[in-house]
Amino acid sequence: MEYVRNSDLKPSWCDWPVHMQRALDLAESVLTACPNPRVGCVLVRDGQVISEGWHSAAGAPHAEAMALEAAGPAARGGVAFVSLEPCAHHGKTGPCSEALIAAGVATVVIPMQDPHPAVSGKGIAQLEEAGVEVIMMVDFENAARVINLGFLSRVERGRPRVRMKLAMSLDGRTALSNGDSKWITDGASRSDVQLLRASSSAVLTGVGTVLADDPSLTVRPDEMGLSADQQRSNALNLQNPPLRVVLDSALRTPAQSKLLAAQGRVLIYTTASAQSAELAGLKNCDLKVAGSEARVELLPVLESLASEYHCNDILVEAGPTLCGAFLRARLVDELIVYVAPKLMGSDGKALLDLHGIQTMADTPTFEVIETQQLEGDVKLRLLPQLN
Ligand SMILES: NC(=O)c1ccc[n+]([C@@H]2O[C@H](COP(=O)([O-])OP(=O)(O)OC[C@H]3O[C@@H](n4cnc5c(N)ncnc54)[C@H](OP(=O)(O)O)[C@@H]3O)[C@@H](O)[C@H]2O)c1
Repeated sequence: MEYVRNSDLKPSWCDWPVHMQRALDLAESVLTACPNPRVGCVLVRDGQVISEGWHSAAGAPHAEAMALEAAGPAARGGVAFVSLEPCAHHGKTGPCSEALIAAGVATVVIPMQDPHPAVSGKGIAQLEEAGVEVIMMVDFENAARVINLGFLSRVERGRPRVRMKLAMSLDGRTALSNGDSKWITDGASRSDVQLLRASSSAVLTGVGTVLADDPSLTVRPDEMGLSADQQRSNALNLQNPPLRVVLDSALRTPAQSKLLAAQGRVLIYTTASAQSAELAGLKNCDLKVAGSEARVELLPVLESLASEYHCNDILVEAGPTLCGAFLRARLVDELIVYVAPKLMGSDGKALLDLHGIQTMADTPTFEVIETQQLEGDVKLRLLPQLN
């Protein structure tokens, strides 16, 4: 395999960065293909784009297969730009390496290898053995990884990527002293949260939020404000909403809660000492024991969500207790904070239960990676810094 930097491209390859970027954009237009990675493909022949593909959902055609199908015989002798190494194994669909070889594609250009053990390096080897040239555009590796951080987290760390959503007032409060919290943020922020849910494999909360707010935690596509590209790429996924997960050590989730009444799968993590679901009167949910302590343990929950439920991305939408616990355990990969320009007062409820920080050196610190104004609110995306 040949590795090339953008600065070393041959003159006849000068438009390759444009095609690779388009393959990445197609991958990114898919909210989630969980448990699979998000992948885009652009087929080019004699410098002209002849077709495009993207993998819209597990079980749907892979990006390469979709592009090859659209191109037909015109793919022979062409160049395929794929945002991830083509798969080489039989899953719900056939191997893309074989499809590319059978279609007579001459060159496959990728930005990174797939770390999944069933694929890693095998797709490249199969293509090369069949005489297909494989070229790695190394300058696109970071951008390609960012598109699949959840998938990579599951495959490389054995747990999903954890994103935590928080909504707060300017003075860091999440409810008034009487508990009223509807609504802190604008409609645009709440639409954005719908998109976050739809791009997650699971939405996770604590029993405290279930008791206080009785949320359904469902995805409501009509509230999302999807672009035309996103609607096209996600039609299948929106029929397959994220798993809803509650951490509830003593099975206090009310049997009549909206969460259990709404359509879709609910999973409750509890402890071995909790009563049975039957005794608690709980229906329409699966129960799992996580850890051996009196309270549900977070790391075993995440490991179970990755290994048993194949979750790539988790969205934590919980109250101060559980969010504080995730942060103290350093299990948060990204914070998404919606800040409303209002003051709720110092007797309002704090954003997080975090106590006993004694020195500035011990304050959890974050890097701001994006700021965006949404109607009157500000959205911040932050990555935890190691300290
Ligand atoms: N502003 C926002 O973005 C936002 C989002 C969601 C909720 N909220 C607000 O948060 C409030 C509820 O807060 P909350 O703190 O009571 O609810 P929470 O954080 O959602 O749930 C807390 C409960 O989770 C359970 N839990 C299970 N395993 C845990 C673990 N390892 N560590 C910590 N907790 C664990 C605990 O109950 P057991 O010990 O019984 O398991 C705990 O009491 C509501 O007023 C709601 O409106 C705000």
